[in-house]
Amino acid sequence: MKKEKLSFELSVYDSLDELSKTDKDLMLEAIEVRKNAYAPYSNFFVGAAVLLENGKIILGNNQENASFPAGLCAERVAIFQAAAIYPNVAILSVAISATSKNYQVKKPAAPCGNCRQSMIEYEQKQQKPISLFLMGELGEVVKCDSISNILPLAFNNSFLNQ
Ligand code: THU
Repeated sequence: MKKEKLSFELSVYDSLDELSKTDKDLMLEAIEVRKNAYAPYSNFFVGAAVLLENGKIILGNNQENASFPAGLCAERVAIFQAAAIYPNVAILSVAISATSKNYQVKKPAAPCGNCRQSMIEYEQKQQKPISLFLMGELGEVVKCDSISNILPLAFNNSFLNQ
């Protein structure tokens, strides 16, 4: 028996101003589109902005439903839209902004497990990492260099092709 240790690095920025202009502008788009989130049940508002290799930015926000599981997270609204319009263009990065009506979101919110699984599908399809930029309400931004970092041992199509 041997043990394998998995680890990865996050970049932590004190403020948006520490990011490159491209990354900062992407987060500003996520912040803006977050305002259109439909989240009357959780009061947790999320915006996502997807930057594609062709320079296009595709936006999404969380869409809730009275039948709770029928709703969808901001990340999946945005990446599914990106894949629907530009199926063969690589995704470079996704910026995610989260706020709540009821309290201050102090830590940058990380994508849920379903969104990680959905995003890793495209990362593996394009064979290029997708960067994530995460932000709450205190100014701090966390960058993760690849979806595979936050979804180790992911289920993927290799298990379906044996
Ligand atoms: N939500 C997102 O949009 N993205 C995440 O990464 C986490 C959660 C949404 C789903 C739901 O509308 C609300 O936030 C509370 O879970």
